[in-house]
Amino acid sequence: MAIRNIRTEEDNILRKKSREVTKFDKRLNQLLDDMAETMYAAPGIGLAGVQVGTLKRVAVIDIGENLIELINGKVIKEEGTQVEIEGCLSIPDVYGKVERPEKVTVSYLDRDGVHNEIYAEGLLAVALSHEIDHFDGILFRDKVIEYIDLENVEDEEQENQQL
Ligand code: NI
Repeated sequence: MAIRNIRTEEDNILRKKSREVTKFDKRLNQLLDDMAETMYAAPGIGLAGVQVGTLKRVAVIDIGENLIELINGKVIKEEGTQVEIEGCLSIPDVYGKVERPEKVTVSYLDRDGVHNEIYAEGLLAVALSHEIDHFDGILFRDKVIEYIDLENVEDEEQENQQL
C-alpha cells in the first residue's frame, strides 16, 4: 500500500468526468487499498479516484463505521433534504453549508464486481452524494450556500470530516 498525492483545486483533473470501471483486477485492488490508506492518513472520511489523479468512478468512504468501497456508484433514490457543513480534501481549509438529500439509496459494485445497494441517511448520505459528485467533476464549492469560518463552529470534529 502507498499513500497517493491528493490533487487540489488548481488541478483541472478535478473537473473531468470519470469513466466506469470495467476491469476488476489487481490494479483496481491496489488503487482501492492506496485510496483507503490515503484517506485515513489525510485524515478524511471519503476520497474519490479523481482526487488521486485517476479518472475512474471509484471512491472510498468511512464515516467511522466501516470502510465502503464504491465502484460505479450512482444514486437511484433520494428523499428529503439536509443542510450540513462540508469540507473536501481537494479544497483544504474551506468549509461551507451544502444542501444534500437526507436519505439516498446508492447502487454500486464492490471490488469483485458484485452488485450491491446501500441505503444511507445523515452523514453517510452526504458522503455518498459528495463522492458521486466527484465522479462527474462537481465540487462541493459548486453547491455551497454559505461559507463557514470553522473557528466559529463548535464542532471540533468537523476538521477531520473532509471528503
Ligand atoms: Ni471532496
